[in-house]
Formats: sequence, structure tokens, C-alpha cells
Amino acid sequence: MPIGIDALEIATPGLYLPMTDLALARDVDPAKFHVGLGQDEMAVAPATVDAVTLGARAAAAVLERTEQADRDALGLIVLGTESGVDASKAMAVMVHGLLAEEYSLPDAVRAFDLREACYGGTAGLLTAVDYVAAHPGRTALVIASDLARYGLRTGGEPTQGAGAVAVLVREDPRLLAIDPATTAVTTDVYDFWRPEGEDVPRVDGKLSNECYMETFTRAWEAHVAATGLDLADYAALCFHLPYTKMGRKALARVLTPEQAAERGLTRIHERYEESIAYSRRIGNCYTASLWLGVASLLDAGSVAAGDRLALFSYGSGAVGELITAAVAEGFEKRRDPAAQRARLDARTALTVEEYEQVLTESLAPAGEGTSGTAFVDDGPYSLTGV
Ligand code: CAA
Repeated sequence: MPIGIDALEIATPGLYLPMTDLALARDVDPAKFHVGLGQDEMAVAPATVDAVTLGARAAAAVLERTEQADRDALGLIVLGTESGVDASKAMAVMVHGLLAEEYSLPDAVRAFDLREACYGGTAGLLTAVDYVAAHPGRTALVIASDLARYGLRTGGEPTQGAGAVAVLVREDPRLLAIDPATTAVTTDVYDFWRPEGEDVPRVDGKLSNECYMETFTRAWEAHVAATGLDLADYAALCFHLPYTKMGRKALARVLTPEQAAERGLTRIHERYEESIAYSRRIGNCYTASLWLGVASLLDAGSVAAGDRLALFSYGSGAVGELITAAVAEGFEKRRDPAAQRARLDARTALTVEEYEQVLTESLAPAGEGTSGTAFVDDGPYSLTGV
């Protein structure tokens, strides 16, 4: 019996910053952001949005799509994040607390968080696949939720963003079957990390790019050696997307556009462009970024049931994993691309001055309440105070 993703939904804040405006304010050629990094818009989370409320919004959207029998069968809630709000209590417990009554979720669930930088969501998904394999008939809810913030006028500023992806994992999935055989690579390196008590990460940008590409190349070569499968066996490759040029650079390590033309594999590059549409408009969301790419690809309408996908997850520090998946029969009925795009279109554009105010506020401790803050994004779940 295949096991995998039965529903996948995205949540992003209702505010964004056009990258052209950020470039002009920072005295940078806008082409550097649009072409050099591959980013057009950047989601901005106000003080009323944290990784818990964003995760709850994505999870609620998944539960809306989930029959009550699968909600009753829920045995595991696992949340991957690097935007933790408490050093002890799991955000998965808080999300359960927000949603349990509304969606009649059982209390007899395991709920915990997983952390390994941007890889945490993938770790959660693979844990959920193993859980369902070990507990036939049960389901699992996996949430990847992050606010990617580096701070004003930092090297990482144009690669910020915010978003959450939630998925329901069960047997006989109607979206994507996940192959339990994967290829992981772990290397102890300091390319990006956030010491306890610090609000924004420390990052060696150039080293992080190199570590990402090196990890991908090693995972891909090990995957090919172990399985005998190669690029021609896949309809598409999706990547963790800290910014969308990153995945393109990694892809070129194994297939340049010229090689693709020679080998009749231009579809791999075409599908890559489809997979980055949402990330170009949202920016990095750490643990959720790979899954944003998968959603973007599925919503573009070019892949078909039975197509095999290769998915590369990367978390600084560093862990990379190459996962393979098969698109399920009738998958298009499990997504609503028009509604997804409409939600992105409906967001409010901030000026650079407003963005700076929002980021400054959202990096400050929330204090007793968030009602007096500059922008209030009052989605179905929002942070009112601490
Ligand atoms: N027109 C077109 N392209 C231009 C340009 C212009 N006018 N000006 C510059 N560019 C190009 C450059 O040639 C370069 O392209 P290549 O990478 O292909 O060489 C690209 O724009 C970026 O330019 P720089 O390298 O000069 O950019 P930078 O010094 O500002 O640093 C960054 C970019 C390292 C990504 C930085 O924003 C950063 O540190 N971001 C955070 C870290 C990060 O995202 N790392 C990614 C890997 S780690 C990971 O994946 C985990 C994670 O999520 C964080």
C-alpha cells in the first residue's frame, strides 16, 4: 500500500514587499534581485503572525480537505521549524490546542517538534511516512512553518520570507506517494545557525551556497549509484528554495540547459521554472520551501498521474536528503490552483518604510499585546499577545 501526502496546503501572511522597491531603497540594481536571486516579491509577517499561527492556518486548510474518518485516525502531529517560540513546549501541541475542538481531533495523538534548520519539515514528513507504515490505518499531520528573517540591511535581507505548508499523510494518498527509500547526507558545518536567545540567524552566505550545492551533488550521485535511476526517469526535480536561483544553480551541477537540449531533457528545466512560481512571490520559508515548490509544480498543470518526481531537501548545518515521489491518480482534484493564486494576489503591498516598521516590530518581543502594532494580519489564527 503506498503511503504519502493526501492533502497539502500553504499559508502565507497577507503582506508582501515588491523586490523592485527594496532594490531601489538599498541602491541595488533590481535585476540583481529578480534575475540574480530570482525573487519578485517577499512575504512579510507582522507581529500578529508567528510560526504557530501560520502553521495553524495551513493545518486548518488541510483539515478542511480531510474527511472526519481521517481526522479520527490522527495519531501524530509533527511540526518542523527553525522559528521556535519556546525552548521546551512544542509548537505542535499549540497547533493541536488551536484546532482540536473545531476539527474534532483526538487527544490520543503524539505531538512534537523537529529541528534541523530547513530540513525539519522533511524530517517530519519522513517520520510520518514511517509512522503510518508502522500503524496501518492511522494518519499523521505534518506542519512546516517558518519566518525567514535576517534583519534590515543585512546580506540576507532580500532572501527573507514567511510561510507554512501542512500535509496529511495516510495510506493510499490522493496527491503524492512517497518512496520510503531515500538518500541522506549529513555534514557538520557552520554555514547558517541561530544560537539560543538570538532573533536572527548567523549566516555565511557564500559558504551556505557551496554547502547546499555540494550536499545536493553528493545526494544525487549516491541516489543514482544506489538505484540506477537517472534524470531521464524523472518528470521533474524540485528543490529547497532559499531563493529561486539556488535550485537552478544546483540543477545545473547535474544538467545544464545545453546538456538538457542534447539529451532531450528540456522538460526538467521547464518543470523547474514551474516549481518556483510561488517561491518567487513568497521568498524563503525555510522548512516549508521545498513543499512550496512541490505545490507550485503540481498547480502548474504539466505533470500527470504516475509521473516520478525527485525532491531535494536541504537544512543548513547540514543535512540534505533526496526523496522520490509519484504523482497520484486524480491529484488535480486535491488542489485548487486558482484559489491559491487569488490568495497571493489579494495580499497587501507594503512600502519599504512600512516593511521596515513591520520587521522592527515583529523582531521585538510581543509583550502583552499586538493590537497596537502597525499592521494587523488577522487571519483565522493570529497572535494577540504573549
Ligand atoms: N543583474 C543580474 N544578476 C546579478 C546582478 C545584476 N545587476 N548583480 C548581481 N547578480 C547576480 C550575481 O552574479 C549572483 O549570481 P550567481 O550566484 O549566479 O553568481 C547573484 O546575483 C547574487 O549575487 P551576490 O552573490 O553578489 O549576492 P550577495 O553577496 O548579495 O549574496 C546571498 C547572496 C549569499 C544569497 C545572500 O543573500 C545570503 O546570505 N542569503 C541568506 C543565505 C542563503 O539563502 N543561503 C542559501 C543556501 S543555504 C540554504 O538553502 C538554507 C536556507 O534556507 C537559508
